[in-house]
Amino acid sequence: MTLRTLDTLGDLAGRRVFVRCDFNVPLHEGEITDDGRVRAALPTLKALLEAGAKVITSSHLGRPQGSPDPQYSLAPVAQRLGELLGAPVAFATDTVGDAAKQTVESLENGQIAVLENLRFHPGETSKDEAERQAFAGEIAALADVMVSEGFGVVHRKQASVYELAKLLPSAAGSLVAHEVSVLNRLLEAPEHPYTVVLGGSKVSDKLGVIDSLLPRVDKLLIGGGMAYTFLAAQGHAIGRSLVETDQIDTAKRYLRAAEEKGVELLLPVDSLMASGFAADAAFENAPSEALESTSIGADALGLDIGPKTAELFAAAVTSSKTVFWNGPMGVFEFDSFANGTQAVAQALTQTDGLTVVGGGDSAAAARKLGFADDQFGHVSTGGGASLEFLEGKKLPGLEVLGWA
Ligand code: 3PG
Repeated sequence: MTLRTLDTLGDLAGRRVFVRCDFNVPLHEGEITDDGRVRAALPTLKALLEAGAKVITSSHLGRPQGSPDPQYSLAPVAQRLGELLGAPVAFATDTVGDAAKQTVESLENGQIAVLENLRFHPGETSKDEAERQAFAGEIAALADVMVSEGFGVVHRKQASVYELAKLLPSAAGSLVAHEVSVLNRLLEAPEHPYTVVLGGSKVSDKLGVIDSLLPRVDKLLIGGGMAYTFLAAQGHAIGRSLVETDQIDTAKRYLRAAEEKGVELLLPVDSLMASGFAADAAFENAPSEALESTSIGADALGLDIGPKTAELFAAAVTSSKTVFWNGPMGVFEFDSFANGTQAVAQALTQTDGLTVVGGGDSAAAARKLGFADDQFGHVSTGGGASLEFLEGKKLPGLEVLGWA
């Protein structure tokens, strides 16, 4: 079964179209620091406005606990959207109820409104299906059709993603359709050699994806904080580096499984060991066999892959035909520890094949390091969602749109 796409919704002129976006953007003191997810929604929003629809859009932002929390307001998103569209964007201070109703009623054809954060209502994320249905019903009362455009949230069985799509005629927007088509190529028919680069801090976040990737990939490169659990599993002393002791056995199992399957699993051969978790911490490069033998000593913690590893990883990436990258190689927010992530991103841009950057965080890292989205084959807007897709899991927000 294939995804229902926008054309299945017919003529949308004059119709109220609710577009469920993923505007979960990073904010610093109320300012959006990376607007990639807002930009990613523009083609669909513009197409709907040009078609004369009354566009109603909303999203979650952060994880508020089911009640209004000003730090997670979508007001900055509404403002940014207005700047990017070059058109007025109405903002409703509530997602449903009178405020939302009045805002929607004031829309003319070809106009757009943002409704406040969906997660300010407990029904959005409730475990209780009836509560989710009730909240979805309140949203449905505001619209005639629903467009699912928040790829980053399709792995969540939440009211605006799942139940709403059942209540109204619904379809995937062009972003969701494109994400699915690219990621499905990786899942079903990747060109080989296929290399996956995983980073970020937690092994436990990546367990499912490692399990399902091992039979499919030729090379698996592991950097970032999660690499130290693997190095510990190999018996290396890792100082005070991040470690999930309860995952060491799992890491050992993966090391064995990779060997059995003939997958080249590359771990850091060196690391930048720092005296503390700080931008200005003193640091030194150390080979993986001797992470504690730096002048900083056994208290040191690894904050980035070392230069040899960066070279090794870059070579593995550029010699591949398909590359998926999720998770930074180090604490790229600190300039001294951004080289590993920079090197991997750079290598992707030099690869002659399909390169996919998976995840809001990795995409934001690449942009912060000066890369433009069009230097990669595809920059996914979904972190958890893209990983779960590549695991081959059934994602509720896609199933409800006909994807199976
Ligand atoms: C994300 O940032 O990965 C998506 O917006 C989903 O957010 P969530 O993990 O809070 O559901």
